[in-house]
Amino acid sequence: MAKIMAKKKILVTGGAGYIGSHACVELTQAGYEMVVVDNLSNSKTQSLVRVEQITGKPVTFYQADIRDKAALTDIFVKEAIDTVIHFAGLKAVGESCAKPQLYYHNNVYGTLVLTEVMAAAGVKQLVFSSSATVYGESTCPQYSEDFPLGPINPYGRSKTMIEDILRDLSRADAINQVQTPWKIALLRYFNPIGAHASGLIGEDPNGIPNNLMPYIAQVAVGKLKQVSVFGNDYPTPDGTGIRDYIHVVDLVKGHIKAIEILDSDAFAAGACKPYNLGTGRGYSVLEMIQAFERVTGRTVNYQIVGRRAGDLAECFANPDLAFKELGWKAEKNLDDMVADTWNWQSNNPQGYE
Ligand code: NAD
Ligand code: UD1
Repeated sequence: MAKIMAKKKILVTGGAGYIGSHACVELTQAGYEMVVVDNLSNSKTQSLVRVEQITGKPVTFYQADIRDKAALTDIFVKEAIDTVIHFAGLKAVGESCAKPQLYYHNNVYGTLVLTEVMAAAGVKQLVFSSSATVYGESTCPQYSEDFPLGPINPYGRSKTMIEDILRDLSRADAINQVQTPWKIALLRYFNPIGAHASGLIGEDPNGIPNNLMPYIAQVAVGKLKQVSVFGNDYPTPDGTGIRDYIHVVDLVKGHIKAIEILDSDAFAAGACKPYNLGTGRGYSVLEMIQAFERVTGRTVNYQIVGRRAGDLAECFANPDLAFKELGWKAEKNLDDMVADTWNWQSNNPQGYE
């Protein structure tokens, strides 16, 4: 009789956040056992209540900071974790420029503690939330994994430092000839937007959003007056910046593919590899505003203002490697992203409050 393999238990750091909560839904629906650790610095437990509502299954949640070694060790003692998906981190670029120590301490030191506790527990499979922001400026707007790195702000540098640390850990295992070496996937996200189709979970930014899509959604719902379009003099067809927007549900499905591959012989023991998670297609700021108006029937007021410091004209993914090695590609289109953003925003105008 064929042996039925039990699905693995996944520790999701930052699981109460925007992307983490969507990952919780997809992991549960894919049959994984799951444990969440989050310090709630940028999220609310309400997101996990909604995850339970969508899946019909309870979520095991530990409120703890990943920098708290004793608390983290306790979780690894209590739960038989097989793999970690590491979303926990601070992500606001402007705040990282004003408070670099906070970002390095939270993101870099937090990851050091996590990997120490993982190694001590013998858990060596890790999927890390990296970002397209690790890439340096390039003359080619379609970014491949082998492009040079060159982040321009403390947030981006914290992600690059973590990537370096994780690569070094893999190399050290080879030097030390350890029996169970690390297997690490560095997932470099482009611009995640959208929400679960139920409209129960979505992005709930603190204060005024920094990113384009939540800003547009809050203008459409009447919370904000108008979108400021940061520059219309870029060398792009309509002069506004072009980005690779990816549906958050597609994005988290990439993580499920990654944990499947890490757990197989297809991913070499001791490897630490980056994968772009994007659609491979860019849209301009004005195209995003127009798509929002078309799909929702709402008017989105905007005005053109000066460029935002540090912005690139155009940036989109070459997602071929993720397709070739993880068997993953984004499936949802721009209309899906806009419709699901609107479904979340219009049903939850105050977010989770
Ligand atoms: P989010 O802020 O919604 O989620 C991050 C979660 O981590 C929050 O729930 C927060 O409370 C928690 N957290 C932060 N520091 C912690 C700590 N020290 N200990 C425990 N929990 C902690 O952000 P998100 O959009 O879901 O992003 C998830 C990850 O993806 C982050 O690492 C982010 O840098 C990365 N990323 C996000 C984007 C994006 O556009 N959203 C793009 C690229 C990469
Ligand atoms: C930003 C971050 C990046 C992070 C990414 C995650 C900066 C400089 N970069 O990138 O580190 O990984 O979010 O999602 O903050 N725009 C407007 N008006 C707005 C907001 C944005 O015109 O109110 C424009 C921007 O100039 C850009 C596009 O919309 O052309 C997308 O902006 P945004 O959503 O902030 O994403 P990124 O700039 O790609």
